[in-house]
Amino acid sequence: MLPYFTQKFGNAASLHAVGDTATAALEEARARVAAFFGAKPGEIVFTGGATEASNLGIVGYALRTGARATTSSSARPSTSRSSTSPSTWSATVFA
Ligand SMILES: Cc1ncc(COP(=O)(O)O)c(C=O)c1O
Repeated sequence: MLPYFTQKFGNAASLHAVGDTATAALEEARARVAAFFGAKPGEIVFTGGATEASNLGIVGYALRTGARATTSSSARPSTSRSSTSPSTWSATVFA
C-alpha cells in the first residue's frame, strides 16, 4: 500500500482512471486482509480511524442483535458515547 501514501492519491470512490486504480488496490487489500482472518472480503470494512471503527462495531452489533452495550467509565469517548447513544439499545457503564 506504500505507493498509495506517497505517489498515488486517487479517490477509490471516484469514477475516473485514477480512482479505478485506487479501487483495485483497495479491493486487493480487502481480499488479503480477509484471507488472513479467514473471512470473506465483503466482511472486511476499512474505516478512517478508531472512532469510526468503534462506533461501527458497537452500534452495528447492538442494532443487529439488540444486545446491550457495556463499557467502562475509563473508555475513550468513541466507545462510551456510542455505547450510551439514545436509541433502541441500552448500556451499562461501570465506574
Ligand atoms: C478506542 C479508540 N478510540 C478513538 C481513538 C482515536 O483515534 P481516531 O483519531 O483514529 O478516531 C483511539 C486511538 O488510539 C482509540 O484507541
